[in-house]
Amino acid sequence: MEREKFSSRLGFILISAGCAIGLGNVWRFPYIVGKNGGAAFVMVYLLFLVIFGLPIMVMELSVGRASQKSAAKSFDVLQKSGQKWHFYKFFAIIGNYMLMMFYTTIAGWMFIYFIKTITGGFAGLNQQGTTDAFNNLLSNPVLMTGAMILVVVICFSCCALGLQNGVEKITKIMMVALLFLIGILAVHSLLLEGGLKGLKFYLLPDFQKFKENGISNVIFDAMGQAFFTLSIGIGSIAIFGSYIDKKRSLTGESLTICLLDLFVAFMAGLIIFPACSAFGVNVGEGPGLVFVTLPNIFNHMSGGRIWGSLFFLFMSFAALSTVIAVFENIMSFSLELFHVSRKKAAIVNILLVSLLSMPCVLGYNVLSNITPLGEGSTILDLEDFIVSNNLLPLGSLVYVAFCTWRYGWGFKNFLKEANSGRGIRFPKWTRIYLTYLLPLLILYIFIQGYISKFS
Ligand code: ALA
Repeated sequence: MEREKFSSRLGFILISAGCAIGLGNVWRFPYIVGKNGGAAFVMVYLLFLVIFGLPIMVMELSVGRASQKSAAKSFDVLQKSGQKWHFYKFFAIIGNYMLMMFYTTIAGWMFIYFIKTITGGFAGLNQQGTTDAFNNLLSNPVLMTGAMILVVVICFSCCALGLQNGVEKITKIMMVALLFLIGILAVHSLLLEGGLKGLKFYLLPDFQKFKENGISNVIFDAMGQAFFTLSIGIGSIAIFGSYIDKKRSLTGESLTICLLDLFVAFMAGLIIFPACSAFGVNVGEGPGLVFVTLPNIFNHMSGGRIWGSLFFLFMSFAALSTVIAVFENIMSFSLELFHVSRKKAAIVNILLVSLLSMPCVLGYNVLSNITPLGEGSTILDLEDFIVSNNLLPLGSLVYVAFCTWRYGWGFKNFLKEANSGRGIRFPKWTRIYLTYLLPLLILYIFIQGYISKFS
């Protein structure tokens, strides 16, 4: 049977961008920037987007387009006989599931916060009140499980409708709404009195902060964030290459996706940091930053209930677009490996992903005595660490090796695929960099990061 394709180029761009744009941009980016001292961190992150993110995205899309398969089968199709690259599928499959094991929980929080804000559930609360509200949510496994399951059911149902009728149609609408909402919110935030200090923290680098936080730690975090935000390394993006034709070269398409991703992360910072300084909120709050601080901020704004609802709606759209995109991967793994129907794959995976997401939900209440990364850490932190700081960078190494080494697909085949179609050519002169330097850099940062994190 011929593989279903996207109905338009816009669909491809928005869905790939939807896969990239998510909680990584609107939830993780602001708190990691806050934790790592602001603008200096942003600069390292930008550098990693260019020197790691962009080429690896072109590689993933090339592997997807050339093989016309998801990560479950793409290496089987492209490798030469007798090679073992196809074992990578297990890594990719685990990576996609594990990303969803915590992502669905946070997406659920966004949903709950949207409903609570629009119904006035945070009205009149001060900083202590919003902190208590967040802690109450975390200590309520039933509510968290319900929201998580709702996210899982909605997103798999969307995938069950098919690529064009479900994934493409729904994600396109959400992405356009998201880009619109972010613009309104950023303008609003920039006009807040007292926002300048936050803006400076975000945009003016202070390299002293590097030393305070430990340079290796900062760089390790920046690399993890760059990989996380683009969803590269576990084949999540690769699949969208398998749904397009060869009319356009892949470097230009990847550049558009990366720029859209960067735009949303940058704008999320413009929304959050001025608001934090305007209302005296600590930007180093950690993962709770948007949940603890923002409802309080909205309480102080005129029309705050509307702005707050829009903000959490925007957050929910960003999260759902990623969940749908990664679920499309998970669906395809089932379709390609077990040849089942979309409906059957959706039903089985609704059960499986819901079950796999439970440790993260329970890690905040019933299992809160488990602190895998030291005092105060949770199961979510561990899962996020495994995915962002391990599976994504190491998986990216596999794509890089496969696309550049002769024992693999090789640079020539990669270049031919990446350059098929109209648009920007992939620069040939990067070969030495991609083959030797890039893998060494990733490994070096990886090892240094481990040493400084656990010593
Ligand atoms: N790339 C996805 C995000 O940023 C995982 O949320």
